[in-house]
Amino acid sequence: TRLAKYVDAVPRLPTPTPRQAAAYPGADYYELAMLQSPWRFHRDLPAGQAWGFWAVSADGPVGLGYLGPTLVARRDRPVVVRYRNQLPTTHLLQSAVDVTLWRDVPGVPPDPPGGRMPQNFPAEPNVWVVPHLHGGFDSPQSDGHPEAWFTPDGLHGPVYATLDGARPNEAVYAYTSRQQATMLWYHDHAMAITRLNIYAGLAGLYLVRDAFEDSLPLPRGDFEVPLILQDRNLTPDGALSYPDRGPTPYHPKWNPNFFGTIPVVNGKAYPYLDMEPRRYRLRLLNGSNQRFFHLWFQDGGARLSFWLIGTDGGLRAAPLRLTSLLLGPAMRADVIVDLTGTQAGTRITMMNDAPTPLPQGDKPVPMPEIMQLRVSNALSGPDQSAPADRLSLRPVTPARPTHGLPRREFVITANRDARGKSTHLAINQRFFDDPVEEFPKAGTTEIWEYVNTSGDGHPMHVHLVQFHVLNRQRFDAKAYLAAYKSWVSQGRRPASQPVLAHYLKGPVMPPAADEEGWKDTVVAYPAMVTRIALRFDVPPPIDGIAGTRSEFPATYIQHCHMLEHEDNEIMRPWQIS
Ligand code: C2O
Repeated sequence: TRLAKYVDAVPRLPTPTPRQAAAYPGADYYELAMLQSPWRFHRDLPAGQAWGFWAVSADGPVGLGYLGPTLVARRDRPVVVRYRNQLPTTHLLQSAVDVTLWRDVPGVPPDPPGGRMPQNFPAEPNVWVVPHLHGGFDSPQSDGHPEAWFTPDGLHGPVYATLDGARPNEAVYAYTSRQQATMLWYHDHAMAITRLNIYAGLAGLYLVRDAFEDSLPLPRGDFEVPLILQDRNLTPDGALSYPDRGPTPYHPKWNPNFFGTIPVVNGKAYPYLDMEPRRYRLRLLNGSNQRFFHLWFQDGGARLSFWLIGTDGGLRAAPLRLTSLLLGPAMRADVIVDLTGTQAGTRITMMNDAPTPLPQGDKPVPMPEIMQLRVSNALSGPDQSAPADRLSLRPVTPARPTHGLPRREFVITANRDARGKSTHLAINQRFFDDPVEEFPKAGTTEIWEYVNTSGDGHPMHVHLVQFHVLNRQRFDAKAYLAAYKSWVSQGRRPASQPVLAHYLKGPVMPPAADEEGWKDTVVAYPAMVTRIALRFDVPPPIDGIAGTRSEFPATYIQHCHMLEHEDNEIMRPWQIS
């Protein structure tokens, strides 16, 4: 489909008013229903069906039809969400549902017998979902574990958890909001189907505000614009399309790589944003399945510079002037664009030139233009914000790894069969359901090392924590992988484990300037060791709300946030002890 560019205004994501509920004193309360409804992605296309979250309110449902409303939370004020699965029992992308994932791994008998997919699958179609608040500091039972899914007709996964009072097609989760002002997002996380559920629309934003942020002279109100950037494919009928066959015989419908060709921002293809000649705060989320964005703003023949003021977990220590920005899947960027004095009629294009996949670009699916910024209006009032370079933001406390703790190595492998067909990806050559091997202690700060032996850059995400990127270092991936594989195949005897230090080459490199600050997702580049420092704490119970004390063992997960990858085993649990 060839679509006319910049004919639809970018939708503003609605922000429902929180309700109060007697059972959750002191908390903001929302009911979010997941529904299938018509949504028009572009002026020249008919409305297709899409999925979204709708907030139930006294004035009727609040939502778009695709994606979800933005929840605005105050730091330290809890939020309780009742999520209801009112989707059809047949998936919007039913032909792409792959029932072999998490079940038949070549050479490994299914465990438990019959597999780990919903009990009634594939005898009857069904739609299993579980929402997760990405970047939140929340108890395990409210974290949306991939196996805590629930279906429209009330079936539950093996670790289904909820606060009391949920109906069979619901889960009630309590979020602490005990974290700095930042932009989080909630999205589906259901085992082996996340890529399709998010693709269909199950994602929304969660802004945390705090007094410090309030005190900053930042653009506010209409001049703060959250934008969810995604790549999608659309049919001439206006429906979402996703490939229903892939290159591997084991998982016939699964694709190790998927890139859409149409940029969709807040649900519209190639949209424009009408702007005044003043400063704007853009809150960007990369909500794509697996596409990285390398973003820049083309202003006629020039590149517009902009300021990065915050990352995944909150404000930076100081504004950073940039002319481009790498935004991996699930990452957020808090950006100031200064249009002060810009002539009416100016058109600025948000461009992308990230390779697919990152970094080598050997499967090119370019999507160079995303949206247009149109400076068309006169000032509606004075600009109260300060120039970005004069903002003094929030000091970031450097990580202090706890003395005497060993580093944890996480070896990323892309596994293939004898004929070179991709089978699955893995962390430490374990499957998701293998026993937990990492037990960080509450109150400690650990160093984790992602040792990427595969050819792709992977956006690695750890639940519960906001971490710091420490550094990166090259290693001889080929030689290390050979030694590592033979160690694994010989039963992992501790004495013969390959010593990563022997394969390192070259200097220790600091993180990129735009990775400084609080992150919950980091790029692990191929043939590099990527080191992060993570402080572990257990979320405290929420006063007055039953069922919010963290349950032990407190299980969280980490995974690659390329959704096709996390759906096929590159995801592992860990437990705080
Ligand atoms: Cu954004 Cu485990 O996910």
